[in-house]
Amino acid sequence: MPSPLRVLTIIGARPQIIKAAAISRAIASHARGRIVETLLHTGQHYDANMSQVFFDELGIPPADINLNTGSGAHGAMTARMIEGIEQVLVRKEHDVVLLYGDTNSTLAGAVAAAKLHVPVAHVEAGLRSFNKRMPEEVNRIVCDHCSTWLFCPTDTAVANLRNEGFSTTNDAPPTADRPHVVQCGDVMYDNSLHFAAIAKERSPILRDHGLMPGGFALATVHRDNNTDDPARLNSIFRTLLLLHERHGLDIVLPVHPRTRKMMDALLAPDVKDSLDQSPRFLIVPPAGFLDMIALESNARLVITDSGGVQKEAYFFGKPGVVLRPETEWVELVREGQAVLADADPERITVGFENFLQNGIPEVASLFGDGHAAERICDELLRTW
Ligand code: UD1
Ligand code: UDP
Repeated sequence: MPSPLRVLTIIGARPQIIKAAAISRAIASHARGRIVETLLHTGQHYDANMSQVFFDELGIPPADINLNTGSGAHGAMTARMIEGIEQVLVRKEHDVVLLYGDTNSTLAGAVAAAKLHVPVAHVEAGLRSFNKRMPEEVNRIVCDHCSTWLFCPTDTAVANLRNEGFSTTNDAPPTADRPHVVQCGDVMYDNSLHFAAIAKERSPILRDHGLMPGGFALATVHRDNNTDDPARLNSIFRTLLLLHERHGLDIVLPVHPRTRKMMDALLAPDVKDSLDQSPRFLIVPPAGFLDMIALESNARLVITDSGGVQKEAYFFGKPGVVLRPETEWVELVREGQAVLADADPERITVGFENFLQNGIPEVASLFGDGHAAERICDELLRTW
């Protein structure tokens, strides 16, 4: 029997821990004995409700290594991670480094592995916002250009890579200089399908907060350009308050720790007062993934600047008002499932009210068939 493929999976931020659940599950059910996974947590996210909760709920094995990097400026944080990952990779115990998405943990993994000639597999490759002021855009471009396998969730992602000069013919064994580009679907779609029934059974969040299905809007805000800019942050909260009052819908906002800090520092006193005096504008701690699915699948609509939450709204048939000027998930906008509203009160209001009145059209699956993770395992095993 050939020796198993030894994969070092690097996670660090909340969405990566959730994404890792899909591949860990596929390894256990589909590639047992053929892929052996070591899980390295950079420690970029560390609060229990930003990290441990997902291990507890989603059946992810405990991290084998935790670098405990913590928060900090981009350079300092990324440098600490690169150093820690390098110390693991020089032991030569891993054949492939598996990376997710576009965070500083992704960037660190890509740089450390590429310099040591350890092949990188990038899940969520090819996504582009075409806005290099986003730290994530820089991270994903660097990671894609260090990768040996680029696992794309959508046809748009493949086309983006082709436009950057990547060949998509995959006609020679993959290397960092001649990588393979593979459209495999979205591991988050796999997860949403897998965890929807479990969330229905186990999540107490609707009951705990007295929420009625269809009687609330779910909101999340965490992008640095929204949280750290007082004009944008106040504009978003003022508009949400106005829509809450005008339409009598509860609003539930599980608040990212970054946003909590910036709300305290930057919200105008009248906005803070209005939030305090609105008992059905519920600002709650970061939710676990099962609670999040329960919220998404029961909301009337979703207002978000999150990449993951945009797509999950669509997975559960809910309209999305996107608090960004652009999105990497262009299919959602093209198919009328979401609207780009930036932090503009007028655009947020029009998007929200239009969706309240008209809902969204039904569309065929935009993100694969729920088997992206198995496909990734198969492709790695076939070509490494
Ligand atoms: C990071 C990612 C972003 C991703 C998001 C997912 C980068 C550059 N950004 O943004 O792409 O969408 O994660 O949630 O990698 N904090 C805590 N406790 C924690 C984690 C963070 O209090 O457990 C606070 C700290 O004040 C920290 C701030 O949040 O400085 C920002 O954290 P950081 O990891 O730098 O970026 P995110 O905004 O979380
Ligand atoms: N999420 C969660 N609890 C929350 C907010 C988000 O479990 O309070 C989940 C969400 O369902 C999605 C992922 O975290 O699967 C998205 O992460 P986030 O919004 O932090 O980052 P992004 O996707 O924008 O990088």
